[in-house]
Amino acid sequence: MQVSHRSFGQTPDGKEVSLFTLRNAKGAEALISNYGGIVTSLRVPDRNGYLGDVVLGYGNLADYLKESPYFGALIGRYGNRIAKGKFTLDGKEYTLATNNYPNALHGGIKGFDKVVWDPTAVTGPEGPSLRLNYVSKDGEEGYPGTLSVTVVYTFTDDNELKVEYTATSDKDTVINLTQHSYFNLAGKGKILNHVVMIPADRFTPVDSTLIPTGELRPVAGTPFDFRTPTAIGARIDQNDEQLKFGKGYDHNWVINKTMGQLTLMARVTEPTSGRVLEVLSTEPGLQFYSGNFLDGTLKGKGRVYEFRCGFCMEPQHYPDSPNKPEFPSVVLKPGQTYHNTIIFKFSAGS
Ligand code: GLA
Repeated sequence: MQVSHRSFGQTPDGKEVSLFTLRNAKGAEALISNYGGIVTSLRVPDRNGYLGDVVLGYGNLADYLKESPYFGALIGRYGNRIAKGKFTLDGKEYTLATNNYPNALHGGIKGFDKVVWDPTAVTGPEGPSLRLNYVSKDGEEGYPGTLSVTVVYTFTDDNELKVEYTATSDKDTVINLTQHSYFNLAGKGKILNHVVMIPADRFTPVDSTLIPTGELRPVAGTPFDFRTPTAIGARIDQNDEQLKFGKGYDHNWVINKTMGQLTLMARVTEPTSGRVLEVLSTEPGLQFYSGNFLDGTLKGKGRVYEFRCGFCMEPQHYPDSPNKPEFPSVVLKPGQTYHNTIIFKFSAGS
């Protein structure tokens, strides 16, 4: 199976951007741009074999340049929030842009979601792949070290979108890369009927600015218990302080696992289409975001993006880890290679 590409336009500073089509042997296809490494469309079968687009996004580059809540994008250098945009590493304090109220979010003003990656199309044994390279300069967005990042997207013949990250740095730095696709497995409507399972006994509760308090709180007896498959909408409007802070689900779950192992992080089932999404990753945490900041003002691919019409499952290290020595470390040192694998696996049940 081959990778084809066409022009997706130009950035304001004159860089040419392409849109790549990764079609697998089953005819399912992923469209990915080297602008932000954005997955703009993902067509996978429902229970009748009908291919439908299960991600939110836009059909053209201009809309991504104008305004996007990270639709489908690669996120870096640091996925999610760093409190007050400050952290200390090796005794030196670093200051980042505060682009989310008092905090830094998703790598800064011009994060990896807004840079042009250097693309190479490859076809390997597992299916069509797109390799993306980006070198982030020392000091870019306030982060220390020259960071060389490679992301390989592969769309396998088993309808898995595999995202493999590697990175190296020439100075001590912090890193937390993830992927920010918004899914709607029905391809329309709200996501409240989607049934979610997350194998986590604990989550990281947050303050009112969505920074973890440091506590690892048991999910038992709370609306955050997804160990048994439960509809997103079943408890989302309960009178719960954590749900109020997030305007719904916008939290990090502490997955029951051995650090670094590729394990199931979430399974999501949509009853009308029969589509199932399984998220696997090597990361210790999972941000489950229920699209609470979508409000009907953005429109893409012929749809209005209403409140809670898409959800994200972002495998990651816990938010604000650079300021939480008790959380698993996000430090990358020269000579080490950062690895992270995320798999979004699609199937359809009866
Ligand atoms: C992440 C955050 C959310 C929100 C979205 C983008 O998932 O956790 O709070 O900022 O990105 O809108």
